[in-house]
Amino acid sequence: MDPVAKHVGRITRGTTGVNRLRRVDRWIAAQPAARVPGCLVVDLGYGASATTSLELHERLSRGNPGVEVLGLEIDPARVELASAELAAAREAGPTRYGRAIASDARVSFALGGFEVPAPRPPHVIRAMNVLRQYDEHEVAAHWATMRARLAPGGLLVEGTSNEVGRVCSWVALDATGPRSLTIALKVDALGDDAMPAPSVVAERLPKALIHRNVPGERVHALLAELDRAWAIEAPLADFGAVQRWVATARRMREAGWPVIGGPARWRLGELTVAWDAVAPGASPP
Ligand SMILES: C[S@@+](CC[C@H](N)C(=O)[O-])C[C@H]1O[C@@H](n2cnc3c(N)ncnc32)[C@H](O)[C@@H]1O
Repeated sequence: MDPVAKHVGRITRGTTGVNRLRRVDRWIAAQPAARVPGCLVVDLGYGASATTSLELHERLSRGNPGVEVLGLEIDPARVELASAELAAAREAGPTRYGRAIASDARVSFALGGFEVPAPRPPHVIRAMNVLRQYDEHEVAAHWATMRARLAPGGLLVEGTSNEVGRVCSWVALDATGPRSLTIALKVDALGDDAMPAPSVVAERLPKALIHRNVPGERVHALLAELDRAWAIEAPLADFGAVQRWVATARRMREAGWPVIGGPARWRLGELTVAWDAVAPGASPP
């Protein structure tokens, strides 16, 4: 039997990279679901290397030493590759990936798809740059399949980033459905040719939203207003891009957008809004 056939989904391009997912990892590390002692975190669709799963473990274990990370891939060749990389990393210790991977670090790799064949319900499922290679109409069903696997209080984090991780966005979902959209940018690169304004994230929205950045949709209104707020706060650039972003986020909240979190998150270049404010099909406020 075809080993892939029994798993939900299909093999897609495996592009990945060192540090690509640092912004989403940092956000996940702050969520209560990722701080449950001994919790299981699934990295679904880790791609053509073990790197982002190992980094996820490294980042989460700083605040939660007992965390366990299971990388799941639908491509058997990538499971073999990642398992070999993990074995090499355990042996090499500090010389690989810049940091030590303890011989007993709770990381493993296995074959699987959206059905999430984990030994116990995960508290977090991270699926980055996976659904972007599917069709928009497939998203809801795959979200539901993954959400159904979550432990009580668990979180599914599904999104998209650029190759170097400077532009990212993700949807956080719990057992009942989507709760929020987070945009995370390297704000001190805003203004460069490659990142002219915050709406650069339009190209890296989660699949559920990427085709919705058109007039009449809330996500379009959000990005237009974000660019406007960023432009208005231009005088703060003298104090640094982070100060300008913090003021931009505050301005968005004052304009009535349901912004979740405060300056501590804004200083990281994040902006999180309640999902209802951007849900597809809704008309702008
Ligand atoms: C572009 S890579 C993303 C790698 C990594 N997550 C990142 O963001 O750098 C997408 C990976 O997802 C895998 N994939 C696609 N559908 C999947 C599914 N249903 N279950 C598990 N893996 C899947 C593909 O085989 C591919 O290796």
